[in-house]
Amino acid sequence: MASHAPIGVFDSGVGGLSVLREIRSRLPGESLLYLADSGHVPYGEKTQAFIRERCQVIARFLLERGAKALVVACNTATAAGIVELRERYPNLPLVGMEPAVKPAARATRSGVVGVLATTGTLQSAKFAALLDRFASDVRVVTQPCPGLVECIEAGALDGAHTRKLLESFVAPLLEAGCDTLILGCTHYPFIKPLLREMLPADISLIDTGEAVARRLEALLAEKGLRRPGAGGVEFWSSGDPQRLEKVLPALWGEAAEVSFFSG
Ligand code: DGL
Repeated sequence: MASHAPIGVFDSGVGGLSVLREIRSRLPGESLLYLADSGHVPYGEKTQAFIRERCQVIARFLLERGAKALVVACNTATAAGIVELRERYPNLPLVGMEPAVKPAARATRSGVVGVLATTGTLQSAKFAALLDRFASDVRVVTQPCPGLVECIEAGALDGAHTRKLLESFVAPLLEAGCDTLILGCTHYPFIKPLLREMLPADISLIDTGEAVARRLEALLAEKGLRRPGAGGVEFWSSGDPQRLEKVLPALWGEAAEVSFFSG
């Protein structure tokens, strides 16, 4: 595998762009290939079997386009599909995501941690295992957020409907005494400014985009696959490419063309 090959990154939609931004800022030399599975968003309410299959289809496509590494920039897809991806591609540098329970358990002072995530992530065996492993000394309050991903997909990052929905998800966490909130879905960093407005200043927000970029950097270095210089980005969507093109300036920071992925 050549170091100049791109890194494949995917999510159910635009959420993984929050991770792609961290990768771009940490590894500016890398060429990136981003696939938004927008034809099947949201993943949060779909079955694990369906998402597992989507992971396989998308991974095959990204590898056919020459990817030297894959990042599953989605907590829900990681929970459903990373084990099978690792089985199928045992030698591939592969990074997944999971809600940041370990750092949150360390950071909390009240001893109560809130997790905002999709229903799929919160109901997964992987999440249960994560709690068993790292949250035995703290209380964890989980909050599924149906409908929120759709707002973010539509670019409604601070509209009245998004605000109302988010307030209804955050209220029970505050009532429970959480002082640390985990953003357990890659879409949610895009509504951090809105969250900040509605939360007391002493509540911490934790997400995992930067940790994923660090892990990717370490894996590439280990395999001698780092690429210096300045890399480009290619965008693909299984939904309407123009929809993604419309939100890219706000979510990615610059305009770009998007190609259609029919898989
Ligand atoms: N961005 C995804 C995650 O990190 C999933 C959102 C969805 O499609 O429901 O969980």
